Amino acid sequence: MVDAIYIHIPFCVKKCNYCDFLSFKSDEETIEKYVVNLIKEIELYPKYNYDTVYFGGGTPSLLKGEQIKRILNTLSINANAEVTLELNPKTASGEEIREFKNAGINRLSIGIQSFNDKFLKKLGRIHNIQEGISVYKETRKIGFNSISLDLMFSLPEESIEDVKMDMKKLIELNPEHFSIYSLIWEPGTNFYEKLKKGEYKETENDLEADMYEYIIDYAKKNSYTHYEISNFCKKGYEARHNTKYWRNKEYLGVGLGASGYLDNIRYKNQMKFSSYCDSILIGKKPILENEIVDEVSLEEYRHILGLRLLEEGIVPNTEENYVKIYKELENKNFLIKKDGRYILTKKGLFLANDVFEKFI
Ligand SMILES: C[S@@+](CC[C@H](N)C(=O)[O-])C[C@H]1O[C@@H](n2cnc3c(N)ncnc32)[C@H](O)[C@@H]1O
Ligand code: SF4
Repeated sequence: MVDAIYIHIPFCVKKCNYCDFLSFKSDEETIEKYVVNLIKEIELYPKYNYDTVYFGGGTPSLLKGEQIKRILNTLSINANAEVTLELNPKTASGEEIREFKNAGINRLSIGIQSFNDKFLKKLGRIHNIQEGISVYKETRKIGFNSISLDLMFSLPEESIEDVKMDMKKLIELNPEHFSIYSLIWEPGTNFYEKLKKGEYKETENDLEADMYEYIIDYAKKNSYTHYEISNFCKKGYEARHNTKYWRNKEYLGVGLGASGYLDNIRYKNQMKFSSYCDSILIGKKPILENEIVDEVSLEEYRHILGLRLLEEGIVPNTEENYVKIYKELENKNFLIKKDGRYILTKKGLFLANDVFEKFI
């Protein structure tokens, strides 16, 4: 039974220079109209009991606590559920953060991105580092005890010394969880344009690998478990919601452009606000496209997602073609068998995309 829901909030104060997530600037009236439609969309689905709820974006912290509460009130949520909200430092302070907690949010994912104002500016973030740190401290005061921080590395002109400084400051804040993503140059973004014009250069592979290795070693030295390619946590603080994605579990996805996975179908919602609302108005789920997950693509997803979980990996498929792929990857020292499951080796982790390609 489905027990996870992703709720997309497609609003941002300003588009960051590297980001291609579905989000745009908006006013209060449009945000309220969106919340009303979102609630109607949720009501088009059966009333599942949720163990995890995730407000992602965009910038969910642009919603008021009262709006979050109305959305949560339409859901049936288990007593010890994980209820996460992504928070952009500039968009909420003291009282608003307290309202999120009162509404039922018990985990925050704060978009810090970098501990260096030079890079925050380059990224086009709307906050500086001081604002990032003080929001983090505020959330602690309010009583949040499960906090994740989002960072990025391999940024244009970033050095290994910059990464070392970021890691030092990150660990000093002592979050329960953090995600650190290597920059992806997404077509259509301001960064991508600069790359094409030659104003920015991609980080050399060797330097990126050195940065990643430093991050992993420093996190481990400071008692964080590296449990997923880009995710680290203290014992017992794995992101429960995202772990369901990596385990290839089904989940409901609602909101503009949201993806979901239900009854063997992976679907994507309408990307245009008007089409999204029109569909809901006539009581129809606002789905844009469906992909039926047959046995072959189920195994593709299961391998590509499951191998991201570095300690858990995947249960091997016993079919001959898979056995052949595993053998080849074991011979290259990319995969190793542990307790009857396959996991990535350190070499496989650094070349994860090459490993995943074998399963497509
Ligand atoms: C969809 S964003 C939501 C968080 C929130 N909107 C914020 O930025 O504060 C989730 C995370 O994805 C990461 N991200 C977004 N675009 C990326 C890119 N092009 N390459 C690598 N990481 C990216 C950022 O770390 C970001 O915090
Ligand atoms: S990174 Fe976050 S704040 Fe920036 S544009 Fe993307 S979703 Fe919005």
